[in-house]
Amino acid sequence: MAVKEIIKMGHPLLRQVAMPVRQFNTPELAALVVDMRETMQANNGAGLAAPQIGVGLRVVIFGVQKNPRYPDAESVPETVLINPEIEIIQPGQEPGWEGCLSVPGLRGQVPRYLGIRYRGQDHFGGKIERLAEGFHARVVQHEVDHLDGILYPQRMTDLDSFGFEETLLQAGVLHYPLQDD
Ligand code: NI
Repeated sequence: MAVKEIIKMGHPLLRQVAMPVRQFNTPELAALVVDMRETMQANNGAGLAAPQIGVGLRVVIFGVQKNPRYPDAESVPETVLINPEIEIIQPGQEPGWEGCLSVPGLRGQVPRYLGIRYRGQDHFGGKIERLAEGFHARVVQHEVDHLDGILYPQRMTDLDSFGFEETLLQAGVLHYPLQDD
């Protein structure tokens, strides 16, 4: 159990399609989830995908608690999601700011579906099925993209918004720091 190194954009592992998990409720899977949680927390992240710590399995974690400093930021339930599938419920996409622990210091606006249903399993094999919208839906789409070798800059349609968080804050383009996924 440890905080792992997060690999960064440019590393070939981040471009690979991750493999499905076949066996649940194993010590190996439990250890992976603990490592991912500790790594996400140590980096103040909102989400993390297994490939970001060099493990090519379809495992993501995410979760955002209400922060009194940012009352507008929506909370997202603490979740371990394995072999996820996303179904689009609301066809429209809307741009929103994203960051990524594998793309440190940068932010960009990414179009994402507003409403989704996602399904998968937790690490014990329990089924998960949820409707999500807004920020929750955005975080899930970002994490699941990691499992297909896609980083958020590849989803951007307007590179005018791509920049360094510090600079975007100073320029008043971004209004408060974001958590990374
Ligand atoms: Ni990310």
